[in-house]
Amino acid sequence: MTVFGTAKTMPGAAKAAPGAAGTGEAADTAGTPATVGAAHETEGRAEVLRPHAEDTFADELAALAAADDRPRPARWRLSPWAVATYLLGGTLPDGTVITPKYVGPRRIVEVAVTTLATDRALLLLGVPGTAKTWVSEHLAAAVSGDSTLLVQGTAGTPEEAIRYGWNYAQLLAHGPSRDALVPSPVMRAMADGMTARVEELTRIPADVQDTLITVLSEKVLPIPELGDEVQAVRGFNLIATANDRDRGVNELSSALRRRFNTVILPLPATPEAEVDIVARRVDQLGTSLDLPSVPEGRTEIRRVVTVFRELREGVTGDGRTKLKSPSGTLSTAEAISVVTGGLALAAHFGDGVLRAGDMAAGILGAVVRDPAADRVIWHEYLEAVVRERDGWQDFYRACREVSA
Ligand SMILES: Nc1ncnc2c1ncn2[C@@H]1O[C@H](COP(=O)(O)OP(=O)(O)OP(=O)(O)O)[C@@H](O)[C@H]1O
Ligand SMILES: [Mg+2]
Repeated sequence: MTVFGTAKTMPGAAKAAPGAAGTGEAADTAGTPATVGAAHETEGRAEVLRPHAEDTFADELAALAAADDRPRPARWRLSPWAVATYLLGGTLPDGTVITPKYVGPRRIVEVAVTTLATDRALLLLGVPGTAKTWVSEHLAAAVSGDSTLLVQGTAGTPEEAIRYGWNYAQLLAHGPSRDALVPSPVMRAMADGMTARVEELTRIPADVQDTLITVLSEKVLPIPELGDEVQAVRGFNLIATANDRDRGVNELSSALRRRFNTVILPLPATPEAEVDIVARRVDQLGTSLDLPSVPEGRTEIRRVVTVFRELREGVTGDGRTKLKSPSGTLSTAEAISVVTGGLALAAHFGDGVLRAGDMAAGILGAVVRDPAADRVIWHEYLEAVVRERDGWQDFYRACREVSA
């Protein structure tokens, strides 16, 4: 739809009316990403630090679309089956390998994908680092071919970020009109039948969250200033993510919760699964960051995962020793960052092999967030568990060295 074409030219319009520059800011919050991104597109994708999922995996998405002969819901790029295959990985009849994006129970992905084909929105819930954002991005990329219709939820997210804002230069010069309106990502998704994303829904103040009730139940976004409305066209749906730990900050109202199907993303079930996720993501990140290649350090990855899991769960892997849990979230995502940091150290300052010494400082930083309480917990763990563990002496020494 072209109704909202003006959003992209909005900053130019603001410049044309310098008198209104001071008020242009509010409109900017909802409308600028498309303009900012345009510059990069002409320069080529190679320089983008983190391309969108639909760009990174454009080849896989195209191969899936070509191989996919199952029915597709209105405006979906792929059938639900192909979207699930994109997320979980698989091999197509022509031999194309689809890499797994999400490692976890197949049923979770199937339920999430099917929800998007119904009139209910999808809420991805889970503790930090369980790939909520990651899954939401890949779902939007596979379903709509565009993962960028995104509202980031914060305590300061205003209603305009979910509804629409105004280009004040236009508004003052010509009065309220569709041209002066700056649509939010949600409004654009409704108009175009796309997938909108709301990150960290429960951080958004409750009254602002409730803006979504009409959108999700009536599928309409009223524009009282124009006596108009935007009706969602088929293909529109919304994926929200929320953190378990933030529950209670801004509880979802029950009215809003009823509009969502909730899918809980679990922590990886086994250490092997978690090691696999970390190894896979570290490999991808290393490539995109151009890190010199370091032979895969499975041993070190397994150790980080073991340490994080044990401290998180408050008990050693063999179930024999109870442990205290530190305050930090020792998530899979945190393990990925620690290993990536370790690889960079090994590549630039080490001997090119990932060793305990490259990992120790990163692990310490992740575990000891509260300098007093966490330090005690860490020392107890080091002395009672790490020190006694067969084959972990190098790790113990490296940790002692940085923990002193
Ligand atoms: N089960 C999993 N399969 C694949 N990747 C995973 C899995 N769990 C975690 N990850 C990886 O962890 C990283 C962080 O995930 P993400 O940022 O989506 O977490 P989140 O649940 O949104 O966390 P937060 O609550 O902090 O926002 C991503 O790089 C993702 O690839
Ligand atoms: Mg997230």
